[in-house]
Amino acid sequence: MSTTFTINGQPYTVNLTDLPPDITLNTFIREHAQLTATKFMCLEGGCGACVCAVSDGKSTWTVNSCLKLLNTCAQLEIITCEGLGNHQSGYHPIQKRLAKMNGTQCGFCSPGFVMNMYGLMEQHGGRVTMEEVENSFGGNICRCTGYRPILDAMKSFAVDSTIDATQVILDIEDVNMKARNCPKTGKACRRTCRQSKLIFEDGSQWYWPSSLAEVFEALENVGNSDEFMLVGGNTAHGVYRRSPDIKHFIDVNGVEDLHHYSSDKDKLTLGANLSLTETMEIIRSTSKQSGFEYLDVLWHHIDLVANVPVRNSGTLAGNICTKKEHPEFPSDIFISFEALDVKVIAMKGIDDEQEMTLEEFLGDQDRKMLLKAFILPSYPKDKYIYDSFKIMPRAQNAHAYVNAGFLLELDGNSKVKSARICFGGIRPDFIHATDIEQLMVGHSPYESNLVEQTFSKLEDMFKPDEVLPDASPAYRSKLACGLLYKFLLKHAPDAEVSGKFKSGGQLLQRPLSSGLQLFTTQKQTYPVTQAVQKLEGMIQCSGEATYMNDVLTTSNSVYCAFVGATKVGATIDQIDASEALQHPGVVAFYTAKDIPGTNTFCEPSFGYEAEEIFCSGLVRHSEQPVGVIVALTADQAQRATKLVKISYSNPSSGFKLMPSLKDVFSSETPDASRIIPLVISKLKEVKFSDKPELEVRGIFEMGLQYHFTMEPQTTIIVPFEDGLKVFSATQWIDQTQSVIAHTLQMKAKDVQLEVRRLGGGYGCKISRGNQVACAAALAAHKLNRPVRFVQSLESMMDCNGKRWACRSEYQCHVKTSGRIVGLSNEFYEDAGWNTNESPVQGHSTFTAANCYEFTDSNFKLSGHAVLTDAPSSTWCRAPGSVEGIAMMENIIEHVAFEIQKDPAEVRLANISKKSKMATLLPEFLKTREYYSRRKEIEVFNANNRWKKRGLGLSLMNFPVIYIGQFPATVTIYHVDGTVVVTHGGIEMGQGMNTKIAQVAAYTLGIDLSYVKVESSTTINGANSMVTGYAIGSESVCYAVRKICETLNARLKPVRKAKATWVETVEAANAQLINLIASDHYKTGDMQNYQVLGLALSEVEMDVLTGNILIRRVDILEDAGESLSPWIDVGQVEGAFVMGLGYWLSELLIYEGDNGRLLTNRTWNYKPLGAKDIPIDFRVELVHNPRPSSAGFMGSKATGEPPCCLAVSVIFALQQALQSARQDAGLPREWLRLGAPTTPETLLLNAGHQVSEFKLK
Ligand SMILES: Cc1cc2nc3c(=O)[nH]c(=O)nc-3n(C[C@H](O)[C@H](O)[C@H](O)COP(=O)(O)OP(=O)(O)OC[C@H]3O[C@@H](n4cnc5c(N)ncnc54)[C@H](O)[C@@H]3O)c2cc1C
Ligand code: FES
Ligand code: FES
Repeated sequence: MSTTFTINGQPYTVNLTDLPPDITLNTFIREHAQLTATKFMCLEGGCGACVCAVSDGKSTWTVNSCLKLLNTCAQLEIITCEGLGNHQSGYHPIQKRLAKMNGTQCGFCSPGFVMNMYGLMEQHGGRVTMEEVENSFGGNICRCTGYRPILDAMKSFAVDSTIDATQVILDIEDVNMKARNCPKTGKACRRTCRQSKLIFEDGSQWYWPSSLAEVFEALENVGNSDEFMLVGGNTAHGVYRRSPDIKHFIDVNGVEDLHHYSSDKDKLTLGANLSLTETMEIIRSTSKQSGFEYLDVLWHHIDLVANVPVRNSGTLAGNICTKKEHPEFPSDIFISFEALDVKVIAMKGIDDEQEMTLEEFLGDQDRKMLLKAFILPSYPKDKYIYDSFKIMPRAQNAHAYVNAGFLLELDGNSKVKSARICFGGIRPDFIHATDIEQLMVGHSPYESNLVEQTFSKLEDMFKPDEVLPDASPAYRSKLACGLLYKFLLKHAPDAEVSGKFKSGGQLLQRPLSSGLQLFTTQKQTYPVTQAVQKLEGMIQCSGEATYMNDVLTTSNSVYCAFVGATKVGATIDQIDASEALQHPGVVAFYTAKDIPGTNTFCEPSFGYEAEEIFCSGLVRHSEQPVGVIVALTADQAQRATKLVKISYSNPSSGFKLMPSLKDVFSSETPDASRIIPLVISKLKEVKFSDKPELEVRGIFEMGLQYHFTMEPQTTIIVPFEDGLKVFSATQWIDQTQSVIAHTLQMKAKDVQLEVRRLGGGYGCKISRGNQVACAAALAAHKLNRPVRFVQSLESMMDCNGKRWACRSEYQCHVKTSGRIVGLSNEFYEDAGWNTNESPVQGHSTFTAANCYEFTDSNFKLSGHAVLTDAPSSTWCRAPGSVEGIAMMENIIEHVAFEIQKDPAEVRLANISKKSKMATLLPEFLKTREYYSRRKEIEVFNANNRWKKRGLGLSLMNFPVIYIGQFPATVTIYHVDGTVVVTHGGIEMGQGMNTKIAQVAAYTLGIDLSYVKVESSTTINGANSMVTGYAIGSESVCYAVRKICETLNARLKPVRKAKATWVETVEAANAQLINLIASDHYKTGDMQNYQVLGLALSEVEMDVLTGNILIRRVDILEDAGESLSPWIDVGQVEGAFVMGLGYWLSELLIYEGDNGRLLTNRTWNYKPLGAKDIPIDFRVELVHNPRPSSAGFMGSKATGEPPCCLAVSVIFALQQALQSARQDAGLPREWLRLGAPTTPETLLLNAGHQVSEFKLK
């Protein structure tokens, strides 16, 4: 029987049994409906790339299409981004506003943001507040923009909007927010009726019961050993992967009894499968009833669970049952419900219904027990105090380090009658702090004796388990104690709490964020220097912009997944894929033996050490690919990888596994064979002063950072005639072409690449994507059919190297003026298993003195690469310079701390008077009110024991060095004078194509609308240098200007004084003048230059939790004469926020025993989200830059440098922490903060003891 799904009003009829039983909505939309606006990346609800909307005719809501199972959608209308608006039928106002307000860079995340906003507007009847908007994007990650322009664009729709949208044309169409209906009928399509049961070829069964009785009928079919699932939102799969062996899927979404709710004065009953969003709506209105005011707290807690699309699908029962199956799951629903003594109504059969406690339900072994409802009692506010907390690594969309719920029942004398003190995230068997619950009874909760006794006992009671990658037991127990203390501080009458402690009772309060962007433009060079909309902004926002995986191929395409090795240091003996090859859909399995050419994905002729595509012997790191499974679907390929058996011979006897830099340096005498000196100072001894006024020594450590591009590593290969067409997400088409040709022993002419754009690169697509590209090419070559390889997030994180972690050991002599008279810095960077793509001799060295003045004899720098048992580290946005600048800025801060001088003064004392920084810095300090703000912070810190603030400064001198060559071709069409540019660079969000078009338009003297920049190919872009190091845009612009000048010269003879451009072109064509020209940029055409920048970051820290707010950031960057100011401001904001993530939340943890990366998912790796960015974010591109002969048209690179300024945030945190430690009575001592400085680092360094917790 066929089923019809409607997408954007169009019917799509399929026989469901022809599809996999667990096919997701995302796969169906993309592969069967072939609508590619809806993207995917993480496939676990953590990134938002896949968000689309569904409607049941009554309401519309957003879902993660990567989690939503197609078989739960037959009753729904599905709306995707291209359905909302497109170039043919007109764009939707959200799409337009996002594009016009500069909210896209690579654009891969944009359709997800648009759809999330669309859903929000629909859910609120078009009336949303700025606060609601800002709160709703926790599930959408954007790695490029830093969120500010996206939030501005979205907030401009709010009823209380203060966003200046004058740039935006508010046309009449804006009023109509509806998605487009079926173009044939003009109406929304009708949906087909629900079926009741379907049996698939593999024996799997789907049931769509509409009553409880039908649920139990379906359950009766489930055999004792059969795996089954009651399908709510299927979002638990985003946390713990669903078993591939489920044979019975019972969709409970149509069972009304599971979605009922009712309330009376004593209780609120919630149907078990109400979604979390529905639950929030119900409890918000019920909280207005007497006795249910506490529901407001619950609302705010659920608001912190997952993100909007997950909450729209995820249900209460699904959450609690996940807790039942995985007792370690730090469920927020569970902890809140347990503290509130919520009862469940559970059913073992249609006539067997019972009320039980949550603990009883979790302990019951009956696996077919159905959760029917939850009963929430009333708690009159004069008798009960309730509060709950959730502390996590970032503001939204993260699971709790620790969560807690506290309910106190008070008697008429305000003494505790009963207490429920519950904690999550401690260990699976610890929920109630029973001793404390008993201790409290009969006392006022705020009695000093009780408080003292509570906190002398509590910490010892916890004994949290130690399970990596979870935060340390020490942090979690101290945090848990802090939460109970916070609860007491918050609820105690003012008279019971000392004024200095009171603010500790509040969690950090984040107001709405805002931004300021200042720049100037030069009218005489327009459109160059004009603040124009990004060229492809509109099609990015509608989802029409194509990325590699959007290239459509024929239906005989196959999909790939890597099989990884697990025994690091051992040698592969045998690989047995026989079982995998039997798995349904598996077509082939290839290993190193199948490669006809060379087994390397890095080209030795490009200066690389070879790295094997498939490991053929010694295993270098965990999950190193040993082969590739090729199958009919991506899921089949992925599942079959687990069936390949690899046997190993043992590692050599001396081998000691060390996957991280920390492992190498954990020993007193690090293994010298792992340390390779790369920068050897000419100085034997640094010239220190004989009698230093002060000597400062220290160690500074920075971790790895994963690039986290929203577009995964992707390659599509299409065999074409006697060669291959390659669509690969690469930053370096030349190298990708070369390695594929050598892998397959083909000629370069037969391997042709085309790259439209990348969904982010940041360095990880320079060479790392070639492993995927070569494997896909091998499969396509062998099978002679199109191959699609999109690497999974886990595999990318396991296999791809990260930013080089770094350790700096420094020593310097300092005068009391702050002047450093001698400095030695010995630094070590984590290479992974080889030294490819090393920044050690490059920008780490070039930036190591930053903007400070040293001589040849008083500055000694030694740099080393350290080999670890991890993937080869790679270039990551501002590689080397992030480390180099941070090392020096850290030394300055440390010096300032030791000599007790203001860090700005120490900077001034060390800057050369001749440097432009010597004038920029004092001006910056003045205009940003540095000194008065520092004073205000000191006053604040003196008045607040548990909230601390800090102000951190950083300076940057970033050298831009031009290398290589970039070809380009400009074509003028005589038909209408339009112009197409192609080039060898890669547009990946940095706005290269927009700048190129501006330069072409300016040089040819035409309107920007005439110019289009087409895909980069290995034909017109042959032999091109890698796009990276922020030099790509300017280099290609240079080439394009040269070409346009050539074309101008050719046109000159036919140019008539009053002739239009079109007439001139037509005249040239009539005279057979060649209107196509090519040229290139090459090393030496432009002079190198420095980019100067300054940042000032102000933070507030909650000492009891370690959470922080970035209150304000000011950035001043010398962008020269910006070619395209919106693009450059976007680059500055985005790079800075990516840097903030590095310093604050992006923690990578390798397991010491086996080298496995434990943080390889969105569940446990946390780039910053929309509510983590600076609350007040001010960016200024330096006014009136002096025209510079260096660079291109006086412009400067912006893509990478601002990343280096983010280190200012940890200096601000140092100030906050020092104040906390002073209050704790600790001696003054410099703290070694590095990257990342997480809430855990902060709390554990704050110095307080739990026994200190007092109310007065
Ligand atoms: C990105 C992300 C972030 C998250 N963050 C958090 C967080 O911060 N805090 C938190 O607490 N949770 C978090 N979650 C978990 C989320 O709350 C759960 O995934 C969701 O509530 C599960 O509901 P569901 O309907 O999708 O369950 P499903 O995935 O459909 O089902 C899960 C399980 O519940 C069973 N089940 C469903 N209904 C019933 C029923 N009526 N009776 C018996 N069994 C039933 C199913 O058989 C299955 O075993 C997060 C999830 C994701 C994807
Ligand atoms: S792909 Fe669905 S949320 Fe990431
Ligand atoms: S524009 Fe958001 S990820 Fe690139």
